[in-house]
Formats: sequence, C-alpha cells, structure tokens
Amino acid sequence: MEKENLIKKIKKLKRKREAIIIAHVYQRDEIQKIADFTGDSLFLSRVAMNTKAKVILFCGVRFMAETAAVLNPDKIVLIPEKNAGCPLADTITPSKLKEKKREYPEARVVSYVNSSAEIKAESDLCCTSANAIEVVNSLKEEQILFVPDKNLGRFVASHTDKDVILWDGFCYVHHLCIKAEDIKEMKIKHPRAKVIVHPECPEEIINMADFIGSTSQMADYVSKSNSQEFIVGTEIGMLFNLKFHNPEKRFYPASEKAICEDMKLTTLEKIASSLEKMEYQVKVPKKIEIKAKKSLNKMLEIKHENKR
Ligand code: 13P
Ligand code: SF4
Repeated sequence: MEKENLIKKIKKLKRKREAIIIAHVYQRDEIQKIADFTGDSLFLSRVAMNTKAKVILFCGVRFMAETAAVLNPDKIVLIPEKNAGCPLADTITPSKLKEKKREYPEARVVSYVNSSAEIKAESDLCCTSANAIEVVNSLKEEQILFVPDKNLGRFVASHTDKDVILWDGFCYVHHLCIKAEDIKEMKIKHPRAKVIVHPECPEEIINMADFIGSTSQMADYVSKSNSQEFIVGTEIGMLFNLKFHNPEKRFYPASEKAICEDMKLTTLEKIASSLEKMEYQVKVPKKIEIKAKKSLNKMLEIKHENKR
C-alpha cells in the first residue's frame, strides 16, 4: 500500500480502537512522524501511565512495552513486532541474578529498565538512563548491585560514593558500534561541534564527550545550547528527533553504524496490521507484574527534573 494511504489507515484504526501510538526515539523516522508521543523510556512510561486511551501501541522493543503493560494492567498494550527484543536485556536471567544476589546479600538491586519484567520483579527498584544517578543516590544502603548495563553502571559509580557492583552486560549499539576513532574523525571534520553521548557508551567515549545523558537529556541539552553543531553518540534514530525540534542546528552521527536492529523491525505496515488484528498483546503474569510494578513505582516516585 502507498505510504499516504497506509498512514490514513493507521489514523482510522487508531480512532476505532481508541489507541495512542507512542514511539521511542530510535524508531524509524516515518514512525516517529506519526506517533502521538516520542521520547525516552522514562518519558514513555509516564505517558503510558497517564493516558486515557484504551489501547497503547508501543513502537519500541519488548522491555519497553512490558513496562507499559506492568504500569497499566487494565489497558491493552500492543507491540507491532513480537520479535523486537533487546540483546542488552537478554544478558541477564532471573536465575543468574538470584545467584549474584546470594553473592552480595547486603546489596540493593537496581535494574536498568532495559531488562525483562522478571528482572524488575527481582530488583529493589528500577532506573532509566535519565535518572540512574538519582535513583542510586536515593538509597541509604552502601552497596548497590547494578544490572544489566556495565557502562551505565560505571557512569553511575563515578557520580556516587556508593559501592556499585557491575553486571557484565552491554548494548552492542553503544559499546561496539561507536568507536573513539569515529569521534576523533568527526571532531576534525566539525571542530565547533559539541559531542553528546549516551551513558551506555564505553568509558573512552564518555571521556571524549561534552555532554553525557539519556536521549531526552540530550534533546534538552541541544535545545538550550548556544552551539549550532553536534556530534551525536547514540542510535541514529535520535537524529530525526533532534533535527525536528532544532531545524536551525546541524547534527552528525558519531557513527552511521550505530543502528539498533530490533528498533528498526517496526514498520508502518506492521503498525496497521497490529491495530487491525489487535496483536501482539503484551501480557505479564500477575505475580511478576505486581513485583515489577513495585520496583518501577519506587523509581517513578523519585522526583525527576527532566520531565520531557
Ligand atoms: P533511553 O532511556 O535514553 O531512551 O535509552 C533507551 C535505550 O534503549 C538506549 O539504548
Ligand atoms: Fe537494547 Fe541497545 Fe537496542 Fe537500546 S539500542 S534497545 S539497549 S540493543
């Protein structure tokens, strides 16, 4: 079907189903364009919680849609592509986490939202890349077991006096696809550009950055900055969002290879089909949902400055 007709079909189905479409900023440009809301994981969790819509169509990866389902047990949460996962989230299983918890019985477990509902259920509280430092510092305990992203964990450790034990997980997009050489080259090409990177990047990339933050924090930094050019060290979908909100500024990807394959699995065709067939519904077993919700709510209760 032609793109325009497909968009018309999606809009019609959206009204029929009383649905909203929310999309992460790593989604394809055409999906970000038709979404009712775009943003980072924390922002989208809040949108999902506050919406009056009956159906939440989540364009992102499974853990994000699962988070929306846990926070909204009475709503229907759909994911257009059932195989959209997150290799970082897959680096940890409940049994491996239980084993680690036995090793560190005094530690409080903070899980990055990029994890399954089972992992959230096994955690004391959750965090996103936008609030990880605040979450860890909000705890009175000294020892923190931070899972599953070691780069975000190390970034947090550098901003707290707490003893942060890291899990050996990473996101291949940020850890492997963006190289120090790429940034060096881009800085030579664009000497006036500010380097902004996601905390899932490895230490040597973090050390080269002018600003480190979650996708929404990057967006905020860019809109407030006097600089006109930016080298962007995160998944390339973010560039659409930055250009859209700052048409007068220029953006260069730190690496064209920084592509999350799972994020790109969602297409307009799959969105239309999802609303038409009401699939794939994301459901979390009640026992896990209750425990995961506790960890998520503790995070959401922490006052957060970045509301975007
Ligand atoms: P944000 O929470 O910054 O949007 O990041 C989510 C993610 O998947 C990063 O790889
Ligand atoms: Fe997971 Fe990385 Fe993709 Fe984010 S960019 S969803 S952390 S694989």
